[in-house]
Amino acid sequence: MKLKGQVAIVTGAGRNIGEEVAKLLSSEGASIAVVDLDKARAEKVAGEINAAGGKAKAFICDVAKEVDIDATVAGVAEAFGRVDILVNNVAISDNKHMLDITTEEWNRTIAITLTAPFLFGKYAAKAMIAAGNGGKIVNVSSTSGYYGRNRAIAYTAAKGGVINLTRSMAIQLAPHKIRVNSVVPNKIGSPVGKDDFDPNRPVKNLVGRPGLPIDLANAILFLVSDDSSFIVGSDLFVDGGCSTLMPGNE
Ligand SMILES: NC(=O)c1ccc[n+]([C@@H]2O[C@H](COP(=O)([O-])OP(=O)(O)OC[C@H]3O[C@@H](n4cnc5c(N)ncnc54)[C@H](O)[C@@H]3O)[C@@H](O)[C@H]2O)c1
Repeated sequence: MKLKGQVAIVTGAGRNIGEEVAKLLSSEGASIAVVDLDKARAEKVAGEINAAGGKAKAFICDVAKEVDIDATVAGVAEAFGRVDILVNNVAISDNKHMLDITTEEWNRTIAITLTAPFLFGKYAAKAMIAAGNGGKIVNVSSTSGYYGRNRAIAYTAAKGGVINLTRSMAIQLAPHKIRVNSVVPNKIGSPVGKDDFDPNRPVKNLVGRPGLPIDLANAILFLVSDDSSFIVGSDLFVDGGCSTLMPGNE
């Protein structure tokens, strides 16, 4: 077991990618804080992990609220005694053109997709430093953080921010033995904000199928385990190779 005795916070763990990450880290011995705004989803995932012999607790938290983040990290440290791993997974997409998005929609997307990973990172890092065991943080970005899109504006800006946030976090937390990296997925499971997985979701990548949540969970497990102990501040593409394709020259 790669994470025996460690405690992992997974945000947005109520479904899709976050759920898979929570279950995979549990199967490697970590105790899991299943963080989600949706109580029923969080409790279901935590219940399934416990029923499978793991250790998990649901934490209901709106990552748009700093008080919730502060209380959640404190609650995890109290319930499990320490914090070793943070997976900043929650995001929402605006799916808007810049001429149509309202300032309120822009601010909410940035708050949940960019500010929340910063704040969760800040509070979790303080808990890791207090425990004195170092730690690992993975921020979930997106290929939307590397490229412009016609149907999203705040989401693409936020995800680009997550990639460079990761680099500064990695530099600032390295003295505390906290390793920070990001993952850069494309089309994994159901689209962001949706429930239904379409295995025939159209993709243009080198593998020829959409990603499964386990594809990203495996990459995140690698980045939070000692297998990646020399990898810091990097952005790992988990996109079936779609980013290597030059548009118009396939
Ligand atoms: N699904 C994809 O194809 C894809 C592609 C690229 C990147 N990503 C990234 O992967 C991550 C996970 O995506 P997903 O598709 O699994 O998302 P999802 O929409 O399926 O699940 C997100 C979870 O976060 C929860 N949540 C939403 N707002 C919240 C809030 N304010 N506070 C707490 N919890 C909240 C939801 O209840 C839900 O359970 C995101 O960062 C996303 O940007 C996904």
